Amino acid sequence: MRFGSKYTVFWATAVTLVCLLGVVSVRAQGTPADGPQTTDTLFKNIQVLKGMRIDTFFDAMGMFAASMGDDCTYCHSKKAVLDRAAFADVTPRIQRARQMIVMMQALNKQYFGGGTKVTCFTCHRGAYTPVNAPRLALQYGSPEDDPNVITFVVDPRTSAESVLDKYLQALGGPGALSKLTSFTAKGTYSGFDTGDKQIPVEIFAKAPNQRAWILSFLDGQSHRVFDGTNGWWAGFDAPAPIEVLTTGNLDRARLEALVAFPANIKQAYTSWKVGRTAIEDKDVTIVQGSKEGLLPVNFYFDNATGLLVRIVRWNDTPVGPVPTQLEYSDYRDVAGVKMPFNWVMTQTYMQATIQLSGIQPNVPIDAARFNRPAPVPH
Ligand code: HEC
Ligand code: HEC
Repeated sequence: MRFGSKYTVFWATAVTLVCLLGVVSVRAQGTPADGPQTTDTLFKNIQVLKGMRIDTFFDAMGMFAASMGDDCTYCHSKKAVLDRAAFADVTPRIQRARQMIVMMQALNKQYFGGGTKVTCFTCHRGAYTPVNAPRLALQYGSPEDDPNVITFVVDPRTSAESVLDKYLQALGGPGALSKLTSFTAKGTYSGFDTGDKQIPVEIFAKAPNQRAWILSFLDGQSHRVFDGTNGWWAGFDAPAPIEVLTTGNLDRARLEALVAFPANIKQAYTSWKVGRTAIEDKDVTIVQGSKEGLLPVNFYFDNATGLLVRIVRWNDTPVGPVPTQLEYSDYRDVAGVKMPFNWVMTQTYMQATIQLSGIQPNVPIDAARFNRPAPVPH
């Protein structure tokens, strides 16, 4: 069990997340699909986090759950598990959390020049009550080593270019990569939203950067599409009949498309940094890419194989940076290119795994696959 005791916490989070969709959707019916999907237009009882894009709002809620080390119903009414409308019910902890948001904003404004230097996590670190007495075990014990950090010690001896070249070579080399222009794949998807049961997933991808996933839930299909510029999530499982991806979540879709066709990875960011760390006792090299307007992205390459094993990126929200971790494993040869058959996606409010059973390289794909999907009335 990789998350230890936290596993149950995440699962419970998911149960509520599944349930949340109704609240939102009832109201979303009156919202124009292309209009700004903000908290004010979609939710009933927003007093502090006004004007936020809904896709980013769930990252903020994930930040809250992660900071408390609990699921959504730590603050929200337990009724929310069965009755989605109950997410809008006021509880003492919601009131307390609202005060905390205001306090946090004031601290940042008054003492740290704005921004989100101090967040819920800065104080709470996964506990309801922050610890205020120093911990001797922390002071004298060995330091906790988390590879998923935004700031790390830079290794000046290694260039990002050499690590990325080694990666492209490990995949089969630029020649083989340039010959892969599209693929379709089939496999299973399992996550909190399926109660960890496996459901079918179909994937369509076209170089340089288009991709569509179709998940077949028991209750209907869910479409997650990136056309190279815009991204959408349409399905009964989405927060609205169609959710339009914005900033960080849009960049995540771009990143996933980049990993599918990584030939141009070196051009994807304007500046790079290299560091060293370990993931589960394996030495890895972190290559961090940055570009204007977004938080950095960490790519982790296994030193032994040169392959990409993890990506960590952060969504910039009004309550601080919120991570998404994407893990890739089970690399197999497809038309001379090594491709990962297992993807694990971990967010503060969601974890899901895709296990592919087969990939068909270089098949014609109808351009309409990457069109904006039809909204799914909830
Ligand atoms: C630490 C407390 C806390 C946790 C944990 C939390 N929330 Fe919230 N949630 C709030 C607060 C506070 C608001 C109201 C924000 C405001 O007034 O601006 C809110 C509002 C909402 C709303 C809007 C309801 C409406 O119609 O007005 C939804 C939906 C929601 N949360 C979903 C979630 C989900 C899903 C999770 C778990 C991933 C979660 N929340 C975890 C504190 C929390
Ligand atoms: C500067 C430190 C600090 C920050 C930042 C902070 N908190 Fe707190 N929070 C506290 C302390 C201290 C307590 C406990 C007070 C007590 O024990 O009575 C607390 C208590 C709470 C509680 C009540 C817990 C209970 O007893 O049920 C909630 C909910 C909460 N915080 C949510 C948040 C959220 C959400 C954020 C981010 C928006 C946040 N906090 C940011 C320090 C902080």
